Amino acid sequence: MKKLYGVLGNPIEHSMSPLIHNDAFKRNELEGEYLPFLVEENAIGKAVIGLKAIGAGGFNVTVPFKESVIPYMDALDPFAKEVGAVNTAVIKDGLITGYNTDGPGFVKSLAPLLDHQFAGKRVLVIGAGGAARGIYCAMAKTGVEKMDIANRTLSAAKKIVADCHNGIHSSVLSLDEAEKALGFYDIIIQTTSVGLSSLHESPISLLGIKEKTVVCDIIYNPLKTKFLCEAENNGAVIQTGVDMFVQQAALAFELWTGISPNTERMRQLVLEKLGG
Ligand code: ATR
Repeated sequence: MKKLYGVLGNPIEHSMSPLIHNDAFKRNELEGEYLPFLVEENAIGKAVIGLKAIGAGGFNVTVPFKESVIPYMDALDPFAKEVGAVNTAVIKDGLITGYNTDGPGFVKSLAPLLDHQFAGKRVLVIGAGGAARGIYCAMAKTGVEKMDIANRTLSAAKKIVADCHNGIHSSVLSLDEAEKALGFYDIIIQTTSVGLSSLHESPISLLGIKEKTVVCDIIYNPLKTKFLCEAENNGAVIQTGVDMFVQQAALAFELWTGISPNTERMRQLVLEKLGG
């Protein structure tokens, strides 16, 4: 009998997780089926308990449940605990363990662009929401020299630094201050929702970046955001949100099955679907 997996979210109809996970199950000759589940606002607990009751193998969690799902976990991986958000759950022997593969997935996607050299790098994270938190906590473990956070609301950025600084030197900046200091950074990571489903919006102007700065956006719809277009026009090496999406999915698949899926194949599937 096929083992059930899925993604819990709201909205969920545009999720590309079923596409890549079902393909990976098939390619690896595993009996798995991955479905999208639309969960009503107050029903995340019921959904989790239901999946456990019917013997599902695990699930992903997406917006807006990554934090509210935590009380329904029987155990939390230390990194998920540090971040305060779960995007992957493994159900084994009747116990649910929550993980966060978003941050580690981002780091994995970035590594090849840096020739795996994180040491000495100066990083700017733009945004201080849930996604920024996972990325900050994971990047703080890579050996980067400095990592600042710029956000519209300074208190949110300060809270991330206070919660998971890991000894790394970090300053908190307004978006205006960050715009003036861009030449200082080797890596700039855009994590806000500005630019999502729009080609006309960007949280800051990138005119001040230095050549060959690595500029990432975690948005993948549109594939190339206004932020990334401007980065490219100013000589940056860019990375779209597809790579993080694929790597977080691959880490989840590995937690469920013990098998590392073909990430290049996953990437191509997503790009085809996005029409890129
Ligand atoms: P996610 O979990 O996807 O990171 P989130 O937790 O809602 O989403 O965080 C959204 C991020 O986008 C925040 O950093 C938010 O800034 P605030 O902390 O000031 O709210 C940022 N953001 C959203 N809309 C924005 C806008 N119009 N201009 C600047 N930043 C914006």
